[in-house]
This record gives sequence, structure tokens and C-alpha cells, in this order.
Amino acid sequence: QLPKQVQIKEVGPRDGLQNETTFIPTEEKIQLVNRLSESGLNYIEVTSFVHPKWIPQLADAVEVLKEIKRNSAITYAALVPNSKGLARALDVGVDEVSIFMSASEGHNKSNINKSIDETFPILKEVVDGALAAGKTVRGYISTVIACPYDGYTKPEQVVNVAEKLFDMGISELSLGDTTGVGVPTQVDALLHEMLRHFKGEKLAMHFHDTRGTAIANVMTSLAHGITKFDSAIGGLGGCPYAKGASGNVATEDLLYFLHEMGIETGVSLEKIQQTALYVEGIIGKTLSSKLVAIAREE
Ligand code: HMG
Ligand code: MG
Repeated sequence: QLPKQVQIKEVGPRDGLQNETTFIPTEEKIQLVNRLSESGLNYIEVTSFVHPKWIPQLADAVEVLKEIKRNSAITYAALVPNSKGLARALDVGVDEVSIFMSASEGHNKSNINKSIDETFPILKEVVDGALAAGKTVRGYISTVIACPYDGYTKPEQVVNVAEKLFDMGISELSLGDTTGVGVPTQVDALLHEMLRHFKGEKLAMHFHDTRGTAIANVMTSLAHGITKFDSAIGGLGGCPYAKGASGNVATEDLLYFLHEMGIETGVSLEKIQQTALYVEGIIGKTLSSKLVAIAREE
């Protein structure tokens, strides 16, 4: 039996925008988050406090997080790579801190310039600091199915990294198919192994839709009882340090799929579609999601 209710974690303002090369004015990013706040979402990843040289698009993280209109029912999270980023994030009152690393050496090195073993103490410092400041911490593991540098990832590699992150004190772990290569049989094998070690309620799935397999992978995850999914408005997104990575599963496509199956999210599909049309205006491009195409014609 499938879950009756699912939580959507909107990562468009972070994962989506980090992949856009033309700088989007800060005021428009703030507007985007404010519109998302009115759609019924209760979780928005707003930005990231990474090195601005690595991700120039999100160099205005402080201003964005400071200026958005906050709704106390919504968790406003941000990505934090190290203590330097944590200081900036705490300064502007982030609600939840998201740490991130990869299950594979090649992507970890390319994305955060460290080996996997070198990364743990850096993240431990971030988690300690965030918990001391009264914040919850979410973890991300990238390349859980395959790595653009190292090939297929074994589920055991993901379990090993996950164990270390949970030991640090993260409250939830998001598993990323960073380059969107995964198919249901692989997701099934991964979750089968993960659920032998961790509770399903502690896990979220983060599917990129590069090859059109994200919704099928969501279905497989639902069948394993997973109830948290990351998605990006309009299907924006990608990791600039993973060649060939494109957008996350589109929030509106995911909403349609879940709602039609009778699975509640509390999020208004129509409001998300309208916001996706707004996003097309600010990025000056047509988005690729199915449900934004339908909204455009209406
Ligand atoms: P590094 O160059 O190795 O850093 O970068 P460092 O610690 O050696 O420091 C070098 C300089 O940068 C120092 O300055 C630091 O102070 C400064 P200097 O002393 O030379 O003047 N610095 C910073 N400045 C501002 N904010 C900071 C910061 N950190 C150091 N936070 C680092 C290491 C991790 C910082 C860098 O590699 C980085 O920022 N990487 C981020 C890459 C990124 O954002 N990738 C995309 C997000 S992950 C993703 O998309 C995957 C996900 O969606 C899940 C999935 O799909 O799988 C989450
Ligand atoms: Mg991602």
C-alpha cells in the first residue's frame, strides 16, 4: 500500500538556480521564494552558502534569506559546505542547515574539492555548530546510483557515508541521483539496502530527471514507503560539478502524479504552475516540465 501523504521539499531556488548561468537579480529570487511560500509548501531550500566563486549565481545568499517574507509554518533551509558557510547562514537565521557530500570519490572531489575522508571532519564541525545554535541538520548524499567520474555506485558505499552522517546528528538524509541516470531496479536495490540500516521516515529521495526516469523512480520509492521527495519548480536544476546533470523532477509534474493517485501534499498545483510561468519570465527560457506546458496553453 502506498503512503497517503507525502512531503514535498522545494529545492528550485537553490538546486534550480545554481545551474543558471545568467545572474538573476536578487529581488526576483526573493519574489520567487515569496510566491512559493504561498503555494502550501512547508519546506523551501532557499539558497546556498558555498564559495561565491564556485556558484556566482547564489552569491547573494545573505540578502535573499534576509529579505524573504517568512511564514512560520515553513522551514527555510540552505546548503552549507563548511564552517565559513555556516557562520553566514546562522547570521541570517536559516531554519535548517543542509550539509552535502557524495558517495563517490570522483564527484566529491570535483564538487567540494576534498576526498570523502577529508570531508567528514569538515561536516562534523558544521553539524556541531548548527546543533549548538538550535538548528536541525539535513544531509545529502550525491551520486547514489552512479557517478559521472567513477561509474556505478554500490549501495554499500551509500550506507557507509549515511552511517557517518547520521552519527554526526543529522535528522534526515536525502539521497541524490545527481545526474539522473537511475532506473527503478537500481532505486529498488538501493532502498532495499538502505532500509535494512535506516528508518524510511529518515530518508528523502532527490531525483534529477535527465533521462525522464524520475517519476518512475518516485513510484518505486513510494512502494518502499518513502514519504519525502525533493523537487524543483519547473524542473530547474542540476549540479555544475557533475557533467550532464540536468533539472530535478519538476514540482508541478510530481504534484499532478501524486494528487491523481490520491496522495496528499497540501500544495496547490495551480499556484505552482503559475509560479513556474513566473520563473520562465525571470530566466527568459521555456521550462521543460509537462505541467508548465499545459499551464502556458491555458
Ligand atoms: P576550497 O577552495 O577547497 O575551500 O572550496 P578552502 O576551504 O580551501 O578555502 C579557500 C578560500 O575560500 C578561503 O579564502 C576560504 O575562506 C574561502 P582565502 O582564505 O583563500 O581568502 N571559503 C569560503 N568563502 C565563502 N563561503 C564559504 C567558503 N568556504 C571557503 N562557504 C568549497 C571548498 C566546499 C567551499 C567549494 O568547493 C564549494 O563552495 N563547493 C560548492 C559546490 C556546489 O555548490 N555544488 C553544488 C551543490 S551540491 C548539489 O547540487 C547536489 C545536491 O543537489 C544533491 C544531488 O543532486 O545529488 C545537493
Ligand atoms: Mg541536486
